[in-house]
Amino acid sequence: MEMERTFVMIKPDGVQRGLVGKILQRFEDRGMKIAGMKLIHVTVDLASTHYEEHVGKPFYEPLMKYIQSGPVVVAVIEAPDAIEQVRKMVGATDPADADVGTIRHTWAQDVTRNRIHAADSPASAEGEIGIYFKEGEILDYPLSVHDWMFRD
Ligand code: RTP
Ligand code: MG
Repeated sequence: MEMERTFVMIKPDGVQRGLVGKILQRFEDRGMKIAGMKLIHVTVDLASTHYEEHVGKPFYEPLMKYIQSGPVVVAVIEAPDAIEQVRKMVGATDPADADVGTIRHTWAQDVTRNRIHAADSPASAEGEIGIYFKEGEILDYPLSVHDWMFRD
């Protein structure tokens, strides 16, 4: 089974609402490995690099202000097919459209303040991991349960 790494961010409203443990628990419950994790304040430089694709959109300025409004937790999650699987667990951008049981459906109400970000493609996962993590901050270690979960 080929492992893949994806990037997630528990946004400022997720941290303020005390959802760090609950959200990370969902990834751990699915047998996903936390390969990197830290609490940071998103600077204007980080935010503008991360959200470059949204420059000029009507929600860009509110998004930039929101993402810098408090500490966030950034993490690298490792699992087979991690990018698509994590996006499914996160749910649609607008929590009103998110499937029941997804993170956004469970804990968010607002299309901007939607608690969590997840990379949407292999290119964005690699790019975003590079924006937020330095070499040495992502750890290679065995998660023994993977041998039982993904054998053969
Ligand atoms: P994300 O990048 O945060 O995982 O979210 P996404 O792929 O589901 O959505 P995207 O289109 O990339 O939008 C990035 C973030 O911008 C805010 N947003 N607000 N209509 C709006 O007010 C609006 N649309 C997007 C959300 O915080 C969204 O997650
Ligand atoms: Mg996106």
